[in-house]
Amino acid sequence: MNVYDATRITDNVYWVGAVDWSVRDFHGYLTSNGTTYNAYLVMADKVTLVDTVKRPYGKEMLSRISSVIDPGKIDYIISNHAEMDHSGYLLDTIEAVKPEKVFASSLGVKALREHFHGIKDVIEVKDGEAIDLGNRHITFYETKMLHWPDSMFSFLQEDGILFSQDAFGMHLASSERFDDELRDYLLEHEAAKYYANILLPFSNFVNKLFAKVEAAGLEPAIIAPDHGPIWRKRVEWILELYKAWAAREPKNKAVIVYDTMWGSTDLMARAICDGLKEQGTRVKVMKLRSDHRSDVATELLEAGALIVGSPTINGNIFPTVADVLAYIRGLKPVGMVGAAFGSYGWSGEATKQVEELLEGMNVELVTERLQSKYVPDGGVLSECRKLGQAVAARLSGLPMP
Ligand code: FEO
Repeated sequence: MNVYDATRITDNVYWVGAVDWSVRDFHGYLTSNGTTYNAYLVMADKVTLVDTVKRPYGKEMLSRISSVIDPGKIDYIISNHAEMDHSGYLLDTIEAVKPEKVFASSLGVKALREHFHGIKDVIEVKDGEAIDLGNRHITFYETKMLHWPDSMFSFLQEDGILFSQDAFGMHLASSERFDDELRDYLLEHEAAKYYANILLPFSNFVNKLFAKVEAAGLEPAIIAPDHGPIWRKRVEWILELYKAWAAREPKNKAVIVYDTMWGSTDLMARAICDGLKEQGTRVKVMKLRSDHRSDVATELLEAGALIVGSPTINGNIFPTVADVLAYIRGLKPVGMVGAAFGSYGWSGEATKQVEELLEGMNVELVTERLQSKYVPDGGVLSECRKLGQAVAARLSGLPMP
């Protein structure tokens, strides 16, 4: 007996995934709204399962499949992406279902072997290759680095459904399965956060993907990602957002990221904010013991400036600041200007270290680092304000976000 229901997407295709309401840490990404692991059942002559779910949710997936068909009747399984949130239950599913065939990209076959030592007989499909499901057909498109080297899309031709695995997804647990059942603001925020934290460093691959999709003449009616809602109303909207994000054009916005020990670096951050604001720049101020690194990455998606403040502790940069800069460096930001600031008691190494880290990620420094010995006085705060003004001057003329 099935406990959980499938959700019908079209006459022949069902969502059979799982909702993870409580996950808050997705390999370092703060998933404030949980996530979903989407799997899809195609009821063609050859019954086909597209992706599976994270392992703890495997039985839930099988139960949802059972609400449509006996899982033992699944003929084919497609693994679009080997990461464990989608293939964690793959081996168990193969053992339970005993499908006739399992398909993955060439790098997918390799990655699955490297995860499930002993997995056998996964069939390698090539870029552009199609498989025949009898009354339906699926074409595969390699989408390397979106989000892993093995990633691929599967396009169900007759239904116009693009199974896009991580791309166009978001970490959002909801009882609703479709984009038109959710609010625009929530969709845009979570899609942007996902892009900023997962796909941003691979933006060149997103650009190549659009060229490839256009060359293939693909016009999906529905985009079904492996996380978050299924796009059936705002297909063009999410495609346009991806094009804009992949272009990585900086806007007239500055993000001030800092931490503070006794409040001095905090005072400096506030004065810098006022200097920026006075010139019309949009500013986001983020104190790292309140704001998570993945929210900083989201705010930076359209920013033109990154201004970083750190007190000196034991001759070093403050640990939360080191953490966020290491994280942002991995996201390979481009086209930003910036500056470093912070307070110190007797040695003051942190701001120099911040500058070196900013330069290491190709952030162009607008001004010399600004330091305050112990508590900033009016003169130092005035310099902070000028620092904000100088950064704003560099952003002036850029479009507002
Ligand atoms: Fe949702 Fe790259 O896995």
